Amino acid sequence: MTSPPQPPASPSRKVHTMDSLVALLCLLPLCPGLAAASPSCPQNVNISGGTFTLSHGWAPGSLLTYSCPLGYYPSPASRLCKGNGQWQTPQGTRLTKAICKRVRCPAPAAFENGVYTPRLSSHPVGGNLSFECEDGFLLRGSSVRQCRPNGMWDGETTVCDSGSGHCPNPGIPVGAVRTGSRFGLGDKVRYRCSSSLILTGSTERECQDTGVWSGTDPICRQPYSYDFPEDVAPALGSSFSHILGTTNPTQKKQENLGRKIQIQRSGHLNLYLLLDASQSVAEDDFDVFKKCAAVMVDRLFSFEIKVSVAIITFASKPQIVMSISDDNSQDVMEVTSSLESASYKDHENGTGTNTYEALHSVYIMMNNQMQRLGMKTLAWQEIRHAIILLTDGKSNMGGSPKAAVDNIKEVLNINQKRNDYLDIYAIGVGKLDVDWKELNELGSKKDGERHAFILQDPKALQQVFEHMLDVSQLTDTICGVGNLSTNASDQERTPWHVTIKPTSKETCRGSLISDQWVLTAAHCFQKLEERDLHLWRVIVGDPSSSQGKEFTIEKKVSPPGFDVYAKKSQGIQEFYGDDIALLKLAQKVKMSTHARPICLPCTVEANLALRRPQESTCRDHESELLNTRSVPAHFTSLSGNRLDIHLKTGAEWASCGQVVSQDKNSFPNLTDVREVVTEQFLCSGTEGDDNPCPGESGGAVFLERRYRVFQVGLVSWGLYNPCWKSAKSSRLKAPRGQVPPPRDFHISVFRLQPWLRQHLQGVLKFLPL
Ligand SMILES: *[C@@H]1O[C@H](CO)[C@@H](O)[C@H](O)[C@H]1NC(C)=O
Ligand SMILES: *[C@@H]1O[C@H](CO)[C@@H](O)[C@H](O)[C@H]1NC(C)=O
Ligand SMILES: *[C@@H]1O[C@H](CO)[C@@H](O)[C@H](O)[C@H]1NC(C)=O
Ligand SMILES: *[C@@H]1O[C@H](CO)[C@@H](O)[C@H](O)[C@H]1NC(C)=O
Ligand SMILES: *[C@@H]1O[C@H](CO)[C@@H](O)[C@H](O)[C@H]1NC(C)=O
Ligand SMILES: *[C@@H]1O[C@H](CO)[C@@H](O)[C@H](O)[C@H]1NC(C)=O
Ligand SMILES: [Mg+2]
Repeated sequence: MTSPPQPPASPSRKVHTMDSLVALLCLLPLCPGLAAASPSCPQNVNISGGTFTLSHGWAPGSLLTYSCPLGYYPSPASRLCKGNGQWQTPQGTRLTKAICKRVRCPAPAAFENGVYTPRLSSHPVGGNLSFECEDGFLLRGSSVRQCRPNGMWDGETTVCDSGSGHCPNPGIPVGAVRTGSRFGLGDKVRYRCSSSLILTGSTERECQDTGVWSGTDPICRQPYSYDFPEDVAPALGSSFSHILGTTNPTQKKQENLGRKIQIQRSGHLNLYLLLDASQSVAEDDFDVFKKCAAVMVDRLFSFEIKVSVAIITFASKPQIVMSISDDNSQDVMEVTSSLESASYKDHENGTGTNTYEALHSVYIMMNNQMQRLGMKTLAWQEIRHAIILLTDGKSNMGGSPKAAVDNIKEVLNINQKRNDYLDIYAIGVGKLDVDWKELNELGSKKDGERHAFILQDPKALQQVFEHMLDVSQLTDTICGVGNLSTNASDQERTPWHVTIKPTSKETCRGSLISDQWVLTAAHCFQKLEERDLHLWRVIVGDPSSSQGKEFTIEKKVSPPGFDVYAKKSQGIQEFYGDDIALLKLAQKVKMSTHARPICLPCTVEANLALRRPQESTCRDHESELLNTRSVPAHFTSLSGNRLDIHLKTGAEWASCGQVVSQDKNSFPNLTDVREVVTEQFLCSGTEGDDNPCPGESGGAVFLERRYRVFQVGLVSWGLYNPCWKSAKSSRLKAPRGQVPPPRDFHISVFRLQPWLRQHLQGVLKFLPL
């Protein structure tokens, strides 16, 4: 660094005054030029092959976090700028050059009744381990496992099992050593990890009378390993679906069924969100914790189960942002806005990490609620509790958090029978050099479930949260729930979507609105001879997979007034007023990930999904769903994907429909557009919108609110056919300036309420108009 040129000779006193004035007014980060005056950490911290971020520049208190490309890990993971201007590394205080090291997977420490190859002391990313069992032993788990870039083997623990014993041979996870080799009822096995590996999961497991080992499969992990979102989401999701009362197909235990009924009828979930706001967590990461928590809260409330949410931020001390005993804790709006107000700065004067106190404040909340409700009451005993701790897992004051967990278990009377009433998820964020051991101690360990996770960064955490609360496994008819996972198939995303196959070649689409009724367009049946109805089929689920199932039609109703040629004498070649039909399927549809109804507005079911007050009306639904002049909505294409349109309302609706007068072929003598575009129709197809093709008629026009899907219309007719060349492959956009311009009209479910109510009596519960 060069020093600034000396000013020309001048009274030294003046210069001096100015210097001290500037120094007083400027806080350190604002005056980099003066940084040398107070301690600032040296900048020689480059990492070869990687990058780093600083939470507060080079000033004391700033946390430096290294990152490396996939398949490498930084060593050290981070450094903290101390008050004396020296870097402190997590492992020690010596400043060593940071480097990106190659990730490696651990080698098996022991393997019974078989052999494996190759035999290395550790394995490179992409390398494989192959297992074989000796004669008389059956191989369970994976026969080949590959080392993944996070330092974890893919697949499952390989076991060579003789099949004797009350419980199956629990195996020996890679890197672990097991003591105990009897697998009878009540027998115990213990695990430890070899060398520097850290054990997560259960160190001791017992063979239970159900024939299942207690606790969680142990994993021996490298200290730097972390989880991929795709590993965490299913694990977390299945744990959560237990709380939510759904059944997990991989666990066929009878209690799960009992649990399901309990939750749906009278259960209540208390969710405690604990957000680490200590120094080791940067403010940006804290903001991501908040965002993730908000997604989770919104998602949870979308299930129509009874939930109360407590929010606690913590550093040296916990701060209760929302208490479980607050009435507002059951109101999603209130919970969301208080989460929004949670501030990292509230902890600026005590930036330690006191996980014990944070958990202890949960204990106090629980205790207060127990006092209020009465220890012996069902109201108290039926509450399920889930604690989600978003943290880097490094408590550095207040003592072991384990003690607080023990208190919580005591107040909730958690014993073998009540194990289901408490779930603790400890979720770490990895670049912060997360403490595996502590996270693992905190997370509950339950049969077949994992509760402690480390993700590489907050973005991964957010992805997990968005996926973890998928209710596709719910078997009841809850409406408008699709699988929101990015990897879900088209049908899983729109499970209400059905294909209607008439006796002729053309098809139509429709939507399940209950487990036995399909809503579609009347014009699909224009050429139908009533006596041929038994030849028609409705395909529910994915027709391109084994999930598809054909149903025959028991009954079809459409308005008697529907007649395409009703206005021919007025020069209107085709008229689609009342283009709506209901089909009753011959059997009920079994609910699944591929078949589930959509929410029909103006019903009690939709009202719950919208989280509106009980006394809401149909008009309220219309103004909530069609709430802007141009409402983003969707329909489903022939090939199953979701296409985008905008539904116009108010004055824009009128001008949207106006262009039909330009279609001189279909409407040669039109004097009043309203003769064709009646108020039964929603209008889309203006610039940028997709246009439906003929076979897409009858399909739902839908939009999303609060993670649920609502059908506001059904595809009826339009001025432009984007599939005029070829049906499935490519849709052709109308050329600019085409006359008439493309427009699409959809029957509005709001305008056909009287007819829907008449025919869906006893199928759906309708709100007042
Ligand atoms: C660190 O890396 C940056 C960019 O690669 C470089 O500009 C800088 O000079 C390096 N600093 C040191 C102290 O090596
Ligand atoms: C490991 O197995 C996979 C798939 O079986 C293969 O694609 C890969 O090349 C193998 N890796 C090595 C290092 O042999
Ligand atoms: C989703 O798909 C992507 C790309 O096809 C893949 O990398 C990822 O592992 C998948 N995730 C899950 C959860 O299956
Ligand atoms: C931290 O301490 C300062 C000085 O005592 C005080 O002005 C400030 O309000 C405190 N901040 C918080 C969040 O309590
Ligand atoms: C959602 O879809 C994804 C991708 O097909 C699948 O892995 C996941 O299990 C589905 N979720 C549920 C709960 O069915
Ligand atoms: C349109 O109106 C003209 C004049 O009123 C009439 O001659 C013609 O037949 C009408 N066309 C149709 C299709 O009704
Ligand atoms: Mg901390």
